[in-house]
Amino acid sequence: MPDVILVTGGTGLVGRGIKWVIENEPEGSRFGKRPGETWIFASSSEADLKDPEQTRKLFQKYKPTHVIHLAALVGGLFKNMKYKLTFLRDNNLINDNVLHTSYETGVKKVISCLSTCVFPDKVTYPLDETKIHLGLPHDSNFGYAHAKRMVDVANHAYKDQFGCNFTSAIPTNVFGPYDNYDLEGAHVIPALVHKCYLAKKNGTPFIVGGTGKPLRQFIYSRDLAKLFIWQLREYDDVEPVILSVGEDEEVSIKDVADAIVKAVDFRGEYSFDTTRADGQFRKPATNKKLLSLIGDFEFTPFQKALDESVQWFLQNYDTARTGVKNST
Ligand SMILES: NC(=O)c1ccc[n+]([C@@H]2O[C@H](COP(=O)([O-])OP(=O)(O)OC[C@H]3O[C@@H](n4cnc5c(N)ncnc54)[C@H](OP(=O)(O)O)[C@@H]3O)[C@@H](O)[C@H]2O)c1
Repeated sequence: MPDVILVTGGTGLVGRGIKWVIENEPEGSRFGKRPGETWIFASSSEADLKDPEQTRKLFQKYKPTHVIHLAALVGGLFKNMKYKLTFLRDNNLINDNVLHTSYETGVKKVISCLSTCVFPDKVTYPLDETKIHLGLPHDSNFGYAHAKRMVDVANHAYKDQFGCNFTSAIPTNVFGPYDNYDLEGAHVIPALVHKCYLAKKNGTPFIVGGTGKPLRQFIYSRDLAKLFIWQLREYDDVEPVILSVGEDEEVSIKDVADAIVKAVDFRGEYSFDTTRADGQFRKPATNKKLLSLIGDFEFTPFQKALDESVQWFLQNYDTARTGVKNST
């Protein structure tokens, strides 16, 4: 039976990255489409995965043999803090429907997407795959983090009770084409890209919140896509894998802002608002497990990945998720 790979959340940042890699890597190569494979990239308009019946219908329609499960209620700090129950409940429903329907329909393998937010607030760094359940997550994303953690619990239970091949991936901060640039809820890179674009357009200063000193690990969506495809084809264990650049590839928020200024070709006034809170200085995650398993893998240099993402944003401003069209 030919493989049918269903990507839930296939229209989001990560899903679009996988679609791009599948369509652009040479067919038959390590990350390219394999002969006979069908890839389905589902959106919420095709099936609301909070609903068991709609989930069942989606699976009946495509009969997936493999699932990359990305669909989630995702949001920035403010939304996570304000809607804790919604984040907990919606993500629990989505994950339960996808995993249980996968089990009932005999899907051979499911990879679900977690996040480094699942890790305990009080933990020793670097983060690694063994530390997920060692303490409570940060209070700000309590609902989202608990729902995501439960996927790891469910994966173990499905394996122990039914022998299912369900596993998970833990990406660090993702960026790339099709990101969410809505200033109300965007992550740091798309938010700064949008702010810099507006500063250039309006001839106003580009002001970055905080000192610019905190360090973060960012992964390009198209690199992450390759790692998901590797995990789908070459990794068969229930334990999660952190999908990230190395700890030595952390970049500061100032590095990010400098790279954005360069990519946007912004020549106006540019400064840091040091009265704004910085957040945690660093929260490094190790990619040792990934590298020990995948062998050779080349991450796209940060500036190149950022240039490609900014070019995509500039060329697709009218259709990108900027929040602007929603309010007009
Ligand atoms: N972005 C990051 O930095 C980051 C970091 C770590 C982990 N992750 C994880 O990566 C995964 C993908 O995130 P993303 O950044 O690509 O998010 P995104 O761009 O906001 O995309 C979310 C996707 O989920 C779909 N979706 C949301 N609610 C749904 C529902 N009720 N039923 C069906 N589909 C639904 C959306 O469909 P529509 O397009 O139709 O709305 C969209 O395709 C998530 O599991 C997230 O937790 C993201």
